[in-house]
Amino acid sequence: MTRVIHIAGTSGSGKSLITLNLAIALQQRGRDVLVLDSNIYQPDLFNYANGTSDVYLNDYLRGERRIEDAIVHHPSGIKIIPSLMEEEYDPHHSVKINQALLSLMGKAEIILVDSFSHNPAFSSIFDHSDEIIFVMNDDAHNVVKSKELIRKVEERGMGVIGTILNKKRKQTNSRHVQTILDKPVLAEIPHDDQVIESINMRVPAFIHYPKSALSRAMKGLAETLDHGKTTR
Ligand SMILES: Nc1ncnc2c1ncn2[C@@H]1O[C@H](COP(=O)(O)OP(=O)(O)O)[C@@H](O)[C@H]1O
Ligand SMILES: [Mg+2]
Repeated sequence: MTRVIHIAGTSGSGKSLITLNLAIALQQRGRDVLVLDSNIYQPDLFNYANGTSDVYLNDYLRGERRIEDAIVHHPSGIKIIPSLMEEEYDPHHSVKINQALLSLMGKAEIILVDSFSHNPAFSSIFDHSDEIIFVMNDDAHNVVKSKELIRKVEERGMGVIGTILNKKRKQTNSRHVQTILDKPVLAEIPHDDQVIESINMRVPAFIHYPKSALSRAMKGLAETLDHGKTTR
């Protein structure tokens, strides 16, 4: 059985960084992990991982390659299906990405999806996720927006198991956020300069800065997920 964990959230909240580093954290716990970068309109994850490939998710979307051909074996031990930027929005992409996900079932123990869209109305991919985790920031606009998006996902009948509070400011009380959203905060990550450095160096923070705030949070979250200490 493949477990699909969907990393959703508003644009710029930290989804791609968290997906990549959480994947490595789970891999280092002995899990066979595949990351699907489904975000074809803002495909940053593969850059953060310094990846190169001849085949991308986009080749599958055009019907030119099988999805298996796009699997990249990253030096960290995880597998990645990378994306390139699509200039034009096409509603069929969502359907095909969903098909890609279904074809990948059985190809890894855990599939982490870097979300294609934060709007569930556009993406049936949410329906095939076992767990949805919502990445958010703590400014008022983001909290309101996240609450609204979580509500939309849940209207589809999908449960969001919790949030990751990223770029957290010192003065923010995560209990307060937890109360507003009515969701557990599964991990908290402050704004962290080592995260920026890891992006500039194109080496995942989990590898280059294992003691950074992001790495420690991802290690803890991987342990929580591994032990199934979350409820849907
Ligand atoms: N914990 C953090 N500390 C500092 N900067 C961060 C942190 N998380 C994210 N960032 C910044 O936010 C940007 C967006 O992160 P990214 O993971 O690409 O977001 P998303 O995938 O949700 O659009 C990164 O390029 C980085 O500059
Ligand atoms: Mg992203």
